Amino acid sequence: MNAPLLSVKDLRTVFDTRAGRVCAVDGVNVEVRRGECLGVVGESGSGKSVTFSSVMGLVRSPGRIDGGEITFDGRDLRKLSASEMRAVRGRDIAMTMQDALTALNPALTVGEQIAEVLEAHDETLPTGRGARQRAIRERSVEMLSLVGIPSAASRLSQYPHEFSGGMRQRIMIAIALACRPKLLIADEPTTALDVTIQAQVLELISDIRAKLGMSVVLITHDLGVVSGHCDRVMVMYAGQVVEEGLTRDVIGNPAHPYTKGLLGSIPRLALRGQPIKPIEGQVPDLIDLPPQCRFFSRCTLRKDVCKSLVSMHEAAPGHRARCVLVGKDS
Ligand SMILES: Nc1ncnc2c1ncn2[C@@H]1O[C@H](COP(=O)(O)OP(=O)(O)O)[C@@H](O)[C@H]1O
Ligand SMILES: [Mg+2]
Repeated sequence: MNAPLLSVKDLRTVFDTRAGRVCAVDGVNVEVRRGECLGVVGESGSGKSVTFSSVMGLVRSPGRIDGGEITFDGRDLRKLSASEMRAVRGRDIAMTMQDALTALNPALTVGEQIAEVLEAHDETLPTGRGARQRAIRERSVEMLSLVGIPSAASRLSQYPHEFSGGMRQRIMIAIALACRPKLLIADEPTTALDVTIQAQVLELISDIRAKLGMSVVLITHDLGVVSGHCDRVMVMYAGQVVEEGLTRDVIGNPAHPYTKGLLGSIPRLALRGQPIKPIEGQVPDLIDLPPQCRFFSRCTLRKDVCKSLVSMHEAAPGHRARCVLVGKDS
């Protein structure tokens, strides 16, 4: 079998704060295969953004990567210099940030923002000034058309505030895709959008993935979003992966009580006849966590044995969950 495009092993990312060391990502393993879409799901604060900011080399002080391996397309990203890492960002891996709607520069036109990325990363641009300008313009129009912005050529000279929320999200995706990355990481691309526009943006990401043959990581707090768009899904809780597998297995047959709880809180996905209810309680404080199942205090199925460290257990081939009850009658 082909080696995965991205492989993260035992990643640990910590923030040294006045209150103590926050272990935001604690021993996370991720694999993204070529051409696939991986969904990453979990409540706010579970470590989704920090995991992938770590992959991008974008964790800033007081945060730092404290251990683990990050291999992309055969290269060990943790060994790259800052300038080599800058070249990887944009050209090989692109990430649209969670606050995409404010991440655009309000003072630059959309065309100028796409041109910036192309200037920085595209080595195929011609060197002659006129030809270079023309090539940049052509590529920019192509990217805006690709993300479904009508009359792309005339909109290049407009500023972000002249576009709707959904259109701005499309522009962020166009900028991310300008250099044809092998991997697009989309961090909550639809959270700020209403339901119809959400569906359009997800459709767009799926279409472009097929067209460009790239891999996608789709980060969301909404398990409903991954159901139609991701091949595999990983569920995160309090800095750890608690369940992973094919989307149809994880959603059709959830193994971890947390995933069951997430599903039970989504009207579209809840089991027929079951009441819709949110998971009670709160995510634990990530400072000085006791060595026990992190979901313990909120779990309706907890037992004494859950008061010790829990590793991943196989529920079915390729489907694993961090729960001692997996594979046992509970
Ligand atoms: N700059 C920071 N300083 C201290 N802690 C942080 C910082 N950024 C993130 N964290 C910690 O990391 C945890 C995970 O954050 P994040 O990955 O952004 O969660 P999400 O799953 O919502 O994307 C947060 O709950 C917080 O405790
Ligand atoms: Mg986040």
